[in-house]
Amino acid sequence: MKCLGLLCLLATGLSTLSVGAVVEGLKHKYYHRSCPQAEEIIANMMENFTSADQRVPARIIRMHFHDCFVRGCDGSILLNSTPVNKAEKDAPPNNPSVKGFELIDQIKESGKFERYQVRGGRKDGKISRESDALLNLPPPSANVQLLVQMFANKGLSLEDLVTLSGGHSIGVSHCSSLLGRHVNFSKTGTHDPTLDFHLAMKLKSECVGVHKAEPTVVVMDRFTPTSLDNKYYKGLLQNKGLFTSDQTLLTNTFTRKQVIANAVQPLAWKKKFVDAMIKMGEIEVLTGQKGEIRKTCDRVN
Ligand code: HEM
Ligand SMILES: *[C@@H]1O[C@H](CO)[C@@H](O)[C@H](O)[C@H]1NC(C)=O
Ligand SMILES: *[C@@H]1O[C@H](CO)[C@@H](O)[C@H](O)[C@H]1NC(C)=O
Repeated sequence: MKCLGLLCLLATGLSTLSVGAVVEGLKHKYYHRSCPQAEEIIANMMENFTSADQRVPARIIRMHFHDCFVRGCDGSILLNSTPVNKAEKDAPPNNPSVKGFELIDQIKESGKFERYQVRGGRKDGKISRESDALLNLPPPSANVQLLVQMFANKGLSLEDLVTLSGGHSIGVSHCSSLLGRHVNFSKTGTHDPTLDFHLAMKLKSECVGVHKAEPTVVVMDRFTPTSLDNKYYKGLLQNKGLFTSDQTLLTNTFTRKQVIANAVQPLAWKKKFVDAMIKMGEIEVLTGQKGEIRKTCDRVN
């Protein structure tokens, strides 16, 4: 079984069968013959990991995004750096904030989150470069124009951008990723005027923990930090988006309309989120003779 493509999608709180564009070489029940229980085992393990640690789904969703945007969904984010190559894993957008690699290894060896169906058949990539991660992953300082461009580069629409940004309805962020929005925005000496004042103060007080061994993190969605729902969009309408890349979605007429629609239509958003995750999961995939099936997830064969 290959390393990432199949299992990541099983971590999210949604369930539906989806249509979407069909990529040659990918199909449902891909492991039907070779390993009929594959998807069941993966789903079970994801459920077990999640009941042991509720941070797991957010981590896997983000890892999936960061894998797919860099050389496609080929598990290249899992490869370790070598003496001659600094890999994606060690690029600043990933290290140290992308977590959960050990879970993938555990699954390879052997909450209330539902499931949805993904096509299988992705092969593992053999290349993983830090520089690709820096070029392809949008920074939290990105404005809507840059986000639209970077998503378009991956075949994703403005609507996909807004839909997928809802991934920020779960999980946490390091205080450093706020880039001073809550305290000293663009060296103005004060918080970002597009960030809610009370939230800025709260973030400021939460982000002072300098003596801790682990860097301080803050929740992405104040209302329901561990449930994948549309509260993220309600937050944006109250200037409670954590990053510029969240709040900027209100500055473009089309994306703003989408934010408002998602804020009032939770079920429609969920359905769109599943479809968009599936679409993202089929970016530049390697199938058939391309790529390989890695024996160990963090090393090419
Ligand atoms: C639109 C451009 C995006 C930007 C600029 C962005 C940026 C970020 C940043 C800076 C963090 C915090 C990292 C840290 O400091 O710990 C984060 C966390 C997260 N992002 Fe995004 N992101 C984007 C899109 C997405 C998408 C498309 C998804 C998935 C659908 C996603 C899912 C997540 C999740 C689940 C977390 C929390 C991870 C955890 O709890 O460990 N993000 N993102
Ligand atoms: C998940 O946990 C249950 C209960 O502890 C256990 O019976 C089951 O074997 C575990 N599943 C996997 C795939 O590890
Ligand atoms: C904001 O940042 C700038 C540049 O780093 C610094 O000179 C200034 O003193 C900071 N202001 C406050 C209030 O921290």
